[in-house]
Amino acid sequence: MNVEKIRSDFPILGREVNGKPLIYLDSGATAQKPRRVIECVERIYSMQNANIHRGVHRLSEEATELYEQARERVREFIGAAEREQVIFTAGATASINTVAYAWAERFLREGDNIIISEMEHHSNIVPWQLQAERRGAEIRVLPFEDDGRLRVEKLDELLDERTRMVAVTQASNTIATRPDLKTIISKAHAAGAHVLVDGCQGVVHGGVNVAELDCDFYAFSGHKLYGPTGIGVLYGRREVLEQMPPFLCGGDMVDRVSFAKTTYAPLPLKYEAGTANYVGAIGLGEAVEYLKGLDLKAVEAHERELTRYAEEQLQRIEGLRIYGRTADKCSIISFNVEGVHHYDLGMILDKLGIAIRTGQHCAEPVMTHYGITGMCRASIAMYNTREEMDALVRGVERAARMLR
Ligand code: ALA
Repeated sequence: MNVEKIRSDFPILGREVNGKPLIYLDSGATAQKPRRVIECVERIYSMQNANIHRGVHRLSEEATELYEQARERVREFIGAAEREQVIFTAGATASINTVAYAWAERFLREGDNIIISEMEHHSNIVPWQLQAERRGAEIRVLPFEDDGRLRVEKLDELLDERTRMVAVTQASNTIATRPDLKTIISKAHAAGAHVLVDGCQGVVHGGVNVAELDCDFYAFSGHKLYGPTGIGVLYGRREVLEQMPPFLCGGDMVDRVSFAKTTYAPLPLKYEAGTANYVGAIGLGEAVEYLKGLDLKAVEAHERELTRYAEEQLQRIEGLRIYGRTADKCSIISFNVEGVHHYDLGMILDKLGIAIRTGQHCAEPVMTHYGITGMCRASIAMYNTREEMDALVRGVERAARMLR
């Protein structure tokens, strides 16, 4: 894998921060964009901008064609059987909320339960809590061990005939665990429950084949997959999506509208009310094409190697603890240094041009598990280098010396 070639595709990596070359280790929050995506977005606004699905004029037809081509690109990328199963949303949060509201209306009743894992991002916790509260259902939590392993065996105790949904991440955004989804999904299905997989980090690190995975729903955001912000994807099993009512209502999601009765558009438009973020979707399609042009196995191996290398060096620093030590973790390193506040460490690294994320990472239950208020997180992407890992380690050492 030619990292320098990949780096040259990302214009932002050439900039400086605080007089130092930017070392971007916050791709878990949002990935940087390759020139191809940036130019695609510029091209649409410059030459092809028109609302989709609404005009007979040339520009509208072109934009519609590009939007539907993006859907096909994403379908192929995630291994969905049909393009109607790929719904464009505003992001993973919107995807999960769409399922939580519309699915719960159809499938969740008083006395039912929903299982979520202890390592979920807030966006895969709070929508379920709200629905459970409204309908008198129970939330059950699948715990993890201190090393980050999800205790999948506990599912046997948690699942019962009233379990309607198991919502779980493909890869934790804090402790990097990749849960054993095959087992989770087969156990959940055997109990008659649906499964939603939050693929935000997982789709980036290793990808997905939703048909093989056999999940009922899969959600991810475009901006973490090197695409634009404000665009996301919801994949769903067709027969489940068809049984669910619409969520957001308005233009494009209807078949016939009258004051007496309105009927709805078939999938996927049933869940794409209003003017879609067609520029974002087309940009995401371009990001997917960019990724398809790379050897994704080599990309993953590169990220894995950098993670292993950085962890080896970091753990030599006195008082440094890494959270999440599972063998097949994705390329996220969360850590703290004893006696050092994570914000202070993040601020010093910023002075050195190094961008990491600090705080709770929208996963407060993970912080509660470890009895801490926050963590530092370095998230590694395909454009990062070994030299950047060395700089991170030197920076953390220096910050720890200054702050302790
Ligand atoms: N969910 C994103 C993260 O983990 C923002 O940082």
